Amino acid sequence: MDIWRIRGGRRLEGECAAQGSKNASLPILAACLLCPGTVELSRVPCLRDVDAALAILRHLGCRAEQAGDRIYIDASGITSCEIPHELMVQMRSSVIFMGALLARCGQARLSLPGGCQLGKRPIDLHLAALRKLGAVIEEDGGEIRCAPSVLRGAEILLPFPSVGATENAMLAACAARGETLIRGAAREPEIQALQGALRAMGADVRGAGTDTLRISGFRGRGCVRLRIPPDRIAAATLACACAGTGGKICIRDCDPGQFSTVLYFLNQAGCDIITKHDRVTLSSEGALRAAGQIATAPYPGFPTDAQPVLMAALLRAEGESVFTENIFENRYRQVPELRRLGADILLKGREARVRGVRRLHGAAVNATDLRGGASMILAGLCAEGETLVRDSGHVARGYEDLDGCLRSLGAELTIQREGENHGLYIQKPQALG
Ligand code: EPU
Repeated sequence: MDIWRIRGGRRLEGECAAQGSKNASLPILAACLLCPGTVELSRVPCLRDVDAALAILRHLGCRAEQAGDRIYIDASGITSCEIPHELMVQMRSSVIFMGALLARCGQARLSLPGGCQLGKRPIDLHLAALRKLGAVIEEDGGEIRCAPSVLRGAEILLPFPSVGATENAMLAACAARGETLIRGAAREPEIQALQGALRAMGADVRGAGTDTLRISGFRGRGCVRLRIPPDRIAAATLACACAGTGGKICIRDCDPGQFSTVLYFLNQAGCDIITKHDRVTLSSEGALRAAGQIATAPYPGFPTDAQPVLMAALLRAEGESVFTENIFENRYRQVPELRRLGADILLKGREARVRGVRRLHGAAVNATDLRGGASMILAGLCAEGETLVRDSGHVARGYEDLDGCLRSLGAELTIQREGENHGLYIQKPQALG
């Protein structure tokens, strides 16, 4: 258990680089199964989810070595196409190994994935897409068995642009005979990153960034070097942190266009924002105004992953900001915790009305999930006094050295492992659950 001890009220000032993208790294790590030679990945963020992907690759018999932010994967000698339950439940992206294993081995055996509890998160669209390609899949309780199958190109129509289903279909389609069309595909930047990786490995994939992908074959190339693109949600999180606390920061090595919807609302709320190439400079007086109506949507719409962190930035903004969550049924888990800090948020179904309060006060709260945890940390930075965020490891699943980055910008915070400091005092322990 990590306990973030945050003393709020400090303005953020300085410069910080955006980390490599979690949600691009994970499918690219799965795609390494297709490559006959070694894949060298650079700028891979140091995250628990990346460790989980490496554990899966090693279990399958791949060589996976890490040196700083570089990872070398050699999948030439894989020995298994089965992923045990305890590895599957460590993250959501373990499900992407299904498409990769089908492409590599023509079969797979795994169980339902884990990940943040943001709603039902079924995998029906993944299974339907893979079945369309000819995969013979049986579900038995939580177990998924893909029997030895010959994959053939097909036209897949996704009724919703699921990121994971698009990735699974892309991976499996690489090994299919003939051409595959994926219509209604997700357009997220992570799909473009996966397309780039697959092309470098020898796949003929086109269309990423549009709603139609065309995949026609794979001619494996030898060794491949790839650089992971910047993490748009981690960059958006830093921007929201400074917007809420006040101050001026420059986020380096990011792609501002990929989180322009978040920057748009921060600008509406009164932040000055300058974007130049791979940098965003944001200044905030701290006294923001409400940002209007914010509705999450598939890319290029406002990202659901940025909803909790933008909400934290707007807790003290004058007026009412209205969020509508359209992607996940259960993505307001941060709200009851934010209320402990004094936030005024009215929840009704998919809608959350945030009425700005003059001040937030420190309290003991729980990190409910990855982005919910980040939301709590940001709210703690904006609150008066001390906030303790109890986190069972969610934040480290997706943020690389977030505490170090925030400290370098002037935030006053430390992380303690529970048990290391016996004098640690947590308010309302009975309510922490
Ligand atoms: N859905 C279905 N059936 C499916 C697949 C999805 O009904 O077979 C529904 C989901 O329940 C959800 C919606 O479709 O309501 C969107 O799910 P999607 O498949 O697009 O999401 P995902 O692939 O599970 C990825 C990111 C999430 C991000 C979403 C939406 C990764 C590893 N995860 O999840 O990131 O929120 O896309 O953009 O890429 C995070 O990083 O914190 C995170 C949760």
